[in-house]
Amino acid sequence: MTKTLLIVHHTPSPHCQEMFEAVVAGATDPEIEGVEVVRRAALTVSPVEMLEADGYVLGTPANLGYISGALKHAFDQSYYQLLDSTRGRPFGLYLHGNEGTEGAQRGVDGITTGLGWVKAVDTVVVSGKPTKADVEACWNLGATVAAQLME
Ligand SMILES: Cc1cc2nc3c(=O)[nH]c(=O)nc-3n(C[C@H](O)[C@H](O)[C@H](O)COP(=O)(O)O)c2cc1C
Repeated sequence: MTKTLLIVHHTPSPHCQEMFEAVVAGATDPEIEGVEVVRRAALTVSPVEMLEADGYVLGTPANLGYISGALKHAFDQSYYQLLDSTRGRPFGLYLHGNEGTEGAQRGVDGITTGLGWVKAVDTVVVSGKPTKADVEACWNLGATVAAQLME
């Protein structure tokens, strides 16, 4: 059965877009079979889409030392629906920002620990223009979470 990887992202700038596109490219690599990749802007994702996914990539800038309001909103409206129904699912996280990315990381740690999600790959943190290595790390992040869903 096809599995679904849901990328929930807030992408307000070209640098964030570059990271997002690299994550998508990794997740949709032709070597990964049986995984459908669904991308949703964090302000538009529905709790049902969150429930129906098998794994997640979360992407956000650090805003005011925390995750963006957009990603926070995605969890504000889905957390209790997801609780106890999504335990054990793999996820990955990419962050963009200079200061306060630790706060964003802590925020996601708290949410995902509560949900019982399992971090499948180290968080990628980028500031400024993504380097070639940063883009590769984003590609690997997408590919690693998607590969976890292969049967
Ligand atoms: C309301 C708001 C708060 C922000 N707070 C932070 C922050 O705490 N730390 C930081 O490094 N960047 C902060 N930023 C900048 C964003 O993280 C930045 O726009 C994003 O990472 C994209 O970077 P770029 O414009 O270089 O592509 C903030 C942006 C906004 C709109």
